[in-house]
Amino acid sequence: MCGIVGYIGPKEKKEILLDGLQELEYRGYDSAGIAIVEEGALHHFKAVGKLENLRRKTENFTSSGFGTAIGHTRWATHGKPTELNAHPHLGKFSYVVHNGIIENYQALKRELQEEGIDFLSQTDTETIVHLFEKYYTETQDAFEAFRKTVEKLEGAYATLLITEVAPDTIFFAKNGSPMLIGFDGDDIYFASSDTAVIGKAKEVYYLEDGEYGYAKSGKVHLFDANGEKEFTCKPLPADKLSAQKEGYRFFMEKEIYEQSEVVGDAMLGRVQDESIYFEELSEGFFDGIEAIKICACGTSYHAALTASYLFERIAKIRCEVEIASEFRYKEPLLSSDTLFVTISQSGETADTLEALKMAKRAGLKSLTVCNVDNSSIVRESDTAILTRAGIEKGVASTKAFATQTMALWMLVLYIGEKRGTIDKETLCREIDAMRHVPKALKVTDTLHARIHRLSKRYLHGHGFFFIGRDIFYPLALEGALKLKEISYLHAEGYPAGEMKHGPIALADSELFTIALMPKTMHYEKIKSNVEELSARDATICAISPLPFELADDFIPTTFDTHPMVEFFEMMVITQLLAMEIAIRLGNDVDMPRNLAKSVTVE
Ligand code: G6P
Repeated sequence: MCGIVGYIGPKEKKEILLDGLQELEYRGYDSAGIAIVEEGALHHFKAVGKLENLRRKTENFTSSGFGTAIGHTRWATHGKPTELNAHPHLGKFSYVVHNGIIENYQALKRELQEEGIDFLSQTDTETIVHLFEKYYTETQDAFEAFRKTVEKLEGAYATLLITEVAPDTIFFAKNGSPMLIGFDGDDIYFASSDTAVIGKAKEVYYLEDGEYGYAKSGKVHLFDANGEKEFTCKPLPADKLSAQKEGYRFFMEKEIYEQSEVVGDAMLGRVQDESIYFEELSEGFFDGIEAIKICACGTSYHAALTASYLFERIAKIRCEVEIASEFRYKEPLLSSDTLFVTISQSGETADTLEALKMAKRAGLKSLTVCNVDNSSIVRESDTAILTRAGIEKGVASTKAFATQTMALWMLVLYIGEKRGTIDKETLCREIDAMRHVPKALKVTDTLHARIHRLSKRYLHGHGFFFIGRDIFYPLALEGALKLKEISYLHAEGYPAGEMKHGPIALADSELFTIALMPKTMHYEKIKSNVEELSARDATICAISPLPFELADDFIPTTFDTHPMVEFFEMMVITQLLAMEIAIRLGNDVDMPRNLAKSVTVE
């Protein structure tokens, strides 16, 4: 998600910041900014969109001479991607950049506003700079003011602050979000990830949660709750690509692990105490809408299928889903009371884009659920809900699917609320379940180790059936797609109740069945479907919170109170299983043969 860089020293600061931010581009962002204190004066530049825009704005600015500098790429969470909301945030004489979420910012902001302080942006970050300046005015001691500021912050943060009142110093603090300090002689660098300082710093110190301090004249003073402390640096890794993977073997693995965080980001500001809020949807957007038609391809199509169950069951609105390439040539009948929804990770998939253009020509209102702002599909749609998954590098989509599904579930509740088809009690129950999802998405060492061990038994055979019922049927489709994409083994997703109408003819000990057996959704029914397969000697790998004695292999789940929470937990398991099988088979998990991340041809 967001990226941070910082530098103290005599070198050209603008270039160091822009280069560092460029290295963090892979994390995704929608605006960027830099601030520099040099010879006692503050300079700052911000731009929406790509770093190119910021480069253009700073073309005529140079920054030679000793100074301090901070930069940031922002992926919007609190407030839209505008210049005002972009970092660095300015007080009267200081600038701050920040990653993470200040959970108590509303209370802090209220207090500061009551004291007459004006806020320019809608961000939580701006509270940091105003708090600092308030404490500085009281104490006339910049470090004391920073320390008191940090003491007030609750939540996750990695933050850097520069100020005219201490023009040779960068103040820093870290809790929950990553940050490191890089050293090269007297030059000091800061960054949220080491890719930004590779080739510049020689060694690094990775800050621990609760650490803060200041850097000045080639020296860093580091503190934690017990006071000032010593620290030891490590040599910096030399390989940028492996640094981007942050210790994971593949981008796909990193992206699976990231899901808990990015799904949390997708919910930020949208999931409120007793309602769902989308700042991108205007009041009345759904007026006159009586049905929903969703078009998508690949994994996004599976998110669409999942949502179709929820739209009808919870929001009580008719919902049809079509594969975009089929929709385009079937001469579909479209009526103007239908909302046309597209789902796309990239926002560039040709079939989805063309389907959208057709629907627009037929006069339909359109909405897209997309991961890339300003992509073709976002630009073509009347409105867009961004999924905030950050850049997805693995060709096999994981975190994009998780955030799409979450965004769609939120949309279901939003529409249900607007149409009055969902009562308060149901809404609160759904919201409560939603809040459990980030926890259900956390990959534990035990789970990963179990799946790794198990995977060795699934490297042959004549095929896999992933089976599930209801929303677990689209999840079965997605599980099978993941496996075939990266392992090149044949896999199919099937509705569990449909196996007896043909596919069961394939059952024997070399047919592997991955059975999704949630406790909260038709457990007894799927159990009997699996029993039918077991009776024909199929090899069963059951995923369930309830023990199942006929299973050859069993992967236990822990969340069993709401189908969607079970859905997300099982989703992670199917992703890890596909990945571990593919790794054992020696395949390139991130770039599987014959596939492309974004398919811009028909
Ligand atoms: C390609 C990718 C898939 C993706 C599909 C749709 O085939 O390999 O992972 O699901 O396109 O892409 P979109 O960007 O529209 O979600």
